[in-house]
Amino acid sequence: MILPMCGIAGYLGPRKAVDVVFDQLKRLEYRGYDSAGIAFPDHGEIRVLKKAGKLTELGRLLEDHPTDVRSAMGHSRWATHGAPTDLNAHPHFDQTEDISIIHNGIIENYLELREELAAKGHDFHSQTDTEVAAHVIGDEYSKGVPLEEAVRLAVKRLRGAYALVVMSRREPGKLVATRNASPLILGLGKGENMLASDIPALLPYTRDVIVLDEGVIAVLTDHDVKIVDGDARDVHFKPMTVEWDLAAAERGGYEHFMLKEIHEQPDVIRQTLAGRIDEKNRIRFDQIFGEHVWHEIDRVNIIACGTAYNAGLMGKHLFEKLLRLPCDVYYSSEFRYGDPVLSPKSLAIFVTQSGETADTLAALRLCKQRRIRTLGIVNVIGSSIARECDRTIFTQAGPEICVASTKAYTAQVMVLTLLALYIAQVTETPGVRVPHIVEELRHLSEKASACLELEPQVLALAEEIRNTPLAFFLGRGADAYVALESALKLKEIAYIPTQEMPAGEMKHGPIALIEEGVIAVFGATSDALVENASIREKVISNMQEIKARGGTVIGVTTEDDHTVERVANHVLRVPDCESDFLTALLSAIPLQLLAYHVARLNGREIDQPRNLAKSVTVE
Ligand code: M6R
Repeated sequence: MILPMCGIAGYLGPRKAVDVVFDQLKRLEYRGYDSAGIAFPDHGEIRVLKKAGKLTELGRLLEDHPTDVRSAMGHSRWATHGAPTDLNAHPHFDQTEDISIIHNGIIENYLELREELAAKGHDFHSQTDTEVAAHVIGDEYSKGVPLEEAVRLAVKRLRGAYALVVMSRREPGKLVATRNASPLILGLGKGENMLASDIPALLPYTRDVIVLDEGVIAVLTDHDVKIVDGDARDVHFKPMTVEWDLAAAERGGYEHFMLKEIHEQPDVIRQTLAGRIDEKNRIRFDQIFGEHVWHEIDRVNIIACGTAYNAGLMGKHLFEKLLRLPCDVYYSSEFRYGDPVLSPKSLAIFVTQSGETADTLAALRLCKQRRIRTLGIVNVIGSSIARECDRTIFTQAGPEICVASTKAYTAQVMVLTLLALYIAQVTETPGVRVPHIVEELRHLSEKASACLELEPQVLALAEEIRNTPLAFFLGRGADAYVALESALKLKEIAYIPTQEMPAGEMKHGPIALIEEGVIAVFGATSDALVENASIREKVISNMQEIKARGGTVIGVTTEDDHTVERVANHVLRVPDCESDFLTALLSAIPLQLLAYHVARLNGREIDQPRNLAKSVTVE
């Protein structure tokens, strides 16, 4: 499973190590980054060259410092803790500059560790969690143990998701690597060994790779690789040979980026939570408005386009249901022309994957002119909307390559959920059990993995419905919002016409379209009671209306439900969550897979659908 963001590269062997590592970083460019750096041994010291901006900037720096060393490591950073500056770029040193590290992921307890080490006299030069990790490893290394032992002991003090590579000036010609949740791949050659955060960076040099297991420590020299577990016991490993060509390798072996991105969602869920929830299941958001602001806000307006708009609707559901805070969701393109009534105490939230959507940017500028508080929920760091909003929360989903948005949607809904819970925490909203819902969020990743296991069933269903002339997507409550997103997926990549709406609206006109061959996909994940009937019972009545007119019904329900199957022609079951909006969010995953497989069976251009662009920068 590939957890994207940042690139790691390392090389030991007879070639010019810095050139190899720079080439590997170029091959990881598709992951996105905003600074880069390289470390290598230099006359008994470690030389670090790093630069904010693109790799060409680092390339210029390297040209000014030519070297012929046989070992090096490099990193391309996508900023999380601290701005994308030269100082915050990796590699980072420990206190004594004996060791240097590169790191992907987030160290969740870095603030506590930083305070602990500062009390022991450590000085920190950057704002990063990575520098703190370097100091923790250095702290262990100062006890006189070998580098791999220092790393093994240090990781017991670190909490979070990480892939780490460490070099020491006292042990040149050695790289030590470990990981938890972030990927790290070792490449084995003859008289040379290497590592990277993704296979494409290794393929020009070797096809024999080891996908490093979580929690083990790998020790690489040019002629040897040794792996030990967390208790320092030797781990037996067997390299695998990669048969993919380079293009397939960039897609992690998946046929399309879309499928890869759908499969990344369990990791994306974890990544979205990383650094934002503490051991007491409280939400932590650094760098957003001061606490008094959340008491002042009287209304939220969410402004977005397409999939991000659909994620915004889930936000409305949360703000209104959980917080009783009025919330409207606007299409960015309509917002400006509608001459919106904006309360001076309102908050405008701009949801966007690319951060460059022209309509959303124009709406943001209008809010700024009107002096309304603005908050971005953005995936691409350094994008216009991320820069121009008063405050920005990053979705941390990693680069999304396929035009059709999948993992960004999940990450957007996750961030909106965290934000709603954060406001509840700060304002002490009665009746909202924040730690309880956070505990549910902790288990969401596993449940998302269970949804991916539905793929064989979804594939069989796709074969059956691939020629449908029209597909309805229906639901009530949060399921209705997911219906809009699921329909968008099917139409944009499979080019199948869709009708999407709350299930209760269907009989006010669109039901006239139902005839033999038409399919209706119903979200029926909620069994919440409204008055005396459950939402699911009402949805089942709507299913009957379709079936009675010759339509084919597909019901998406929960694992424990046995009512939908009595009516639906096909049933997909997702794990249940206590919070109905989370179950609804999970139900988007099999429906993304359904759109994908219908499009694939029909021979569509999945990653680049006709007439569409990833980032819509025209109004
Ligand atoms: O980059 P943005 O999130 O602002 O893009 C908004 C829409 O263009 C985007 O979500 C679009 O609808 C997706 N391609 C749908 O899959």
